[in-house]
Amino acid sequence: MPTTVLVGLQWGDEGKGKIIDFLTERSDLVVRFQGGNNAGHTVEIGKEQFILHLIPSGILRQGTLNVIANGVVVNPLALCHEIDELQRRGVDVLQRLRLSSRCHLLFTYHGMMDSFREAQLGEGKIGTTKRGIGPAYADKASRVGIRACVLRDVARFETLFRARAEFYNHLFTNAEVGTLEVENEWEKLRQAASVLAPLVEDTALLVNRAAAAGKSILMEGAQGTWLDVDFGTYPFVTSSNTIAGAACTGTGLAPHRIDRVTGVVKAYTTRVGSGPFPTELSDATGDALRRRGSEYGATTGRPRRCGWFDAVATRYAAMLNGADGAALTKLDVLDGFESVRICTAYELDGRVVTDMPTDGEEIARVRPRYEEMPGWLADTTSATTYEDLPEAARAYIRRLMELTGMRLEIVSVGPRRDQTFSVGD
Ligand code: GDP
Ligand code: IMO
Ligand code: MG
Repeated sequence: MPTTVLVGLQWGDEGKGKIIDFLTERSDLVVRFQGGNNAGHTVEIGKEQFILHLIPSGILRQGTLNVIANGVVVNPLALCHEIDELQRRGVDVLQRLRLSSRCHLLFTYHGMMDSFREAQLGEGKIGTTKRGIGPAYADKASRVGIRACVLRDVARFETLFRARAEFYNHLFTNAEVGTLEVENEWEKLRQAASVLAPLVEDTALLVNRAAAAGKSILMEGAQGTWLDVDFGTYPFVTSSNTIAGAACTGTGLAPHRIDRVTGVVKAYTTRVGSGPFPTELSDATGDALRRRGSEYGATTGRPRRCGWFDAVATRYAAMLNGADGAALTKLDVLDGFESVRICTAYELDGRVVTDMPTDGEEIARVRPRYEEMPGWLADTTSATTYEDLPEAARAYIRRLMELTGMRLEIVSVGPRRDQTFSVGD
């Protein structure tokens, strides 16, 4: 059985949660390998909607074991809250969730530091989710982080937490974010530790043993390629590597154990937060995409910036991830457009560019060159096979695949689980 890595090829919110849910019918293990509760992965099953932040989307399938692997930064209070909410809705979480002993923990002071830094940046702010992701990864890289293994040793956890909280409160004395109420916070963390400690184990062993036993493993990426800390539109990125390569360092599974990479792409483009976005439409068409696609952040509720499909950015993203297969989502959102556009190249200072530039300043200056195709003006939301789609929609998809060099694997035509189908050769 294959090990598949699933990643977003745009700026996040491509519909990864939904595609994970579709694929997990055939998976034994679903593994998150980076990011934290900045992610918001939506799964709709019948009339029920679930938004997962830290817990892999596979939790909604009975037969799967779900792993939060070492590359994820974990807020213990947010994780307990998410577990409680799901348990309350009848999802059996505690029996089917494992937390890597090597995960770095994220605390309230990281969120406060995130807010403080954003306030300091003023107009130049990144537009983070304020979940403390940057500061938590910074503590990890600075070798002052606290890892999940200490949840099993409350006395040691308390000593480490109090020392770090004191350090942050010292920094905060001159900041406008107040200071952390350490006693109150510690009491909540002590309770969280008792819930989470039984879930903690060495998940590198778990994942490698599952791979050796021929289990089917799905690695669930969060965010998207253009938010990758190395390859994204720096500094307007998140603080982890979001590309498929991160599935190795984020889980402890070696590169040659990975069989395939599926890239999730929306039929158009969205971005939430600040930073360059070449195909952004600040006009009625952009508003129409937002309205028809319900483009509001699953984590923060912020309106998402919208624009046409960017084949320059997506082809580069497919290369970085080695994404041979594509899952195309939200095709239905384009149903009502008389024509649709694809960005096939950029103009930069009088030159034509077909690869994504490195420098964010340059990306902010490019002018997209578009190719226009006829729309299909038909309802695709009840299509269950590729052949059900109108010919103009199929022509649009063929062109996207041709421009990005991917093979179409899955199409999604609505938010529900049953509005998804695989595409044969
Ligand atoms: P993720 O972060 O990549 O998992 O994506 P989000 O869950 O943040 O955002 C995707 C949004 O689009 C969610 O509200 C989904 O329910 C919704 N969605 C996913 N696929 C489709 C689709 O094919 N059509 C429509 N209309 N909505 C979809
Ligand atoms: P999913 O997994 C879309 C964006 C934030 C901000 C930047 C940095 O649901 O696709 P951070 O809080 O990570 O320091 O913010 O990254 N961002 C996302 N945008 N989807 C996400 O996750 C995101 N996670 C972070 O909006 O621009
Ligand atoms: Mg999301």
